Amino acid sequence: MRHLAILGSTGSIGTSTLEVVRAHPERLGVVALAAGRNRDLLKEQCETFRPRCVSVGSQEDAAWLRTNLSYRPELHWGNQGLLACVLDAAVDTVVAAIVGSVGLASTEAALRAGRRVCVANKEALVVGGALMHEAALAGGGELLPVDSEHAALHQLLDGRDRATLREVRITASGGPFRDWPLDRIQAATVEQALNHPTWKMGPKITIDSATLMNKGLEVIEAAVLFGLGPDQLSVTVHPQSQVHAMVGFHDGSYQLQVCANDMKLPIQYCLFHPDRQPGPVPAYSWDQARTWTFEPPDLERFPCLGLAFAALRAGGTAPALLNAANEVAVEAFLQGRLGFWDIQACNQDTLAGLPVTPLASLAQVLDADQAARRHAEGWVRARA
Ligand SMILES: NC(=O)c1ccc[n+]([C@@H]2O[C@H](COP(=O)([O-])OP(=O)(O)OC[C@H]3O[C@@H](n4cnc5c(N)ncnc54)[C@H](OP(=O)(O)O)[C@@H]3O)[C@@H](O)[C@H]2O)c1
Repeated sequence: MRHLAILGSTGSIGTSTLEVVRAHPERLGVVALAAGRNRDLLKEQCETFRPRCVSVGSQEDAAWLRTNLSYRPELHWGNQGLLACVLDAAVDTVVAAIVGSVGLASTEAALRAGRRVCVANKEALVVGGALMHEAALAGGGELLPVDSEHAALHQLLDGRDRATLREVRITASGGPFRDWPLDRIQAATVEQALNHPTWKMGPKITIDSATLMNKGLEVIEAAVLFGLGPDQLSVTVHPQSQVHAMVGFHDGSYQLQVCANDMKLPIQYCLFHPDRQPGPVPAYSWDQARTWTFEPPDLERFPCLGLAFAALRAGGTAPALLNAANEVAVEAFLQGRLGFWDIQACNQDTLAGLPVTPLASLAQVLDADQAARRHAEGWVRARA
């Protein structure tokens, strides 16, 4: 039996995780749930799963839950609440599904406390890089990737002799603007950018998919998770989102990982690894005709992908700077304070405008994150 803390339980990954839990009540139990502002859904989840530890974004919402829940869990709020959830003595597995670098400290603490951490929160890995491995090594924690491309790579690289590998590729759907001309992309609206063709996700990652920054963050995430350099990693656009990753060998052949584009699959893979349980969705069908297409990404129309490769090559705090600028720019775009094309401009300006230092400690990474946020917020204000 695994005893879970789910951080971001009210989001897209969080609710999918709870569906997997519902399908395996004898193998998965919920000890802790944490969310941000959606107290109504959190309350509903608490009444169903009865976690003994609960955290919400604000003190006021924690007080509201105390009054409105039909039982008395331990109630926490804010960043300390996230830590309380992952450090609860009964928790052995954490699903890190908060959005943004705010998830960094709780992911690090969970690894340091020896938990299995199923990480969807790619920003924490992009920002924290090697520090996450150090925390896992120090505390006996285990890092498993929920992101579909990385769960695919985990399966493809498991037990593989790295000396046989020539390259590693992750796929990208290409997002809603894959075949749009540059001038149309530059003027894209929020509504158009939120209209993802193959995945249903939270708003931040959906915008990142439209700029291809999501794929850029995933390239950095793959480098962190699997110890790969920028020259070993590539991206292939595959609009059908059925092949999630591929590995190429020195003899020129490839192995691919294929499954339906449903996040419950990689979530369940991480929760049960190395075991495999009956699927949360029907098995992939080869009895129907399908067409798969593959094409290289266009860095001129999607410059955020190139920026991510540049940050990976620069190393140190560069990925943290890029990630923080992007979080600020995407938020401003969603609020109507920036245009779509401004996102890449803000990211580029922040990455070029701040010093990159070696990755030494969590505190130093958080400082870089804050400096980049200040810089990007200044850029947004000047633009408005
Ligand atoms: N969705 C996908 O298919 C997918 C696939 C791969 C990777 N990911 C990654 O998984 C992460 C989550 O994505 P998502 O699509 O599930 O996002 P989402 O739907 O926007 O959900 C985000 C969750 O985080 C919570 N949250 C945000 N800030 C918080 C804070 N300061 N304290 C506590 N909780 C906080 C939100 O709570 P409230 O809603 O209550 O405010 C919500 O539960 C992201 O890093 C994303 O890149 C997502």
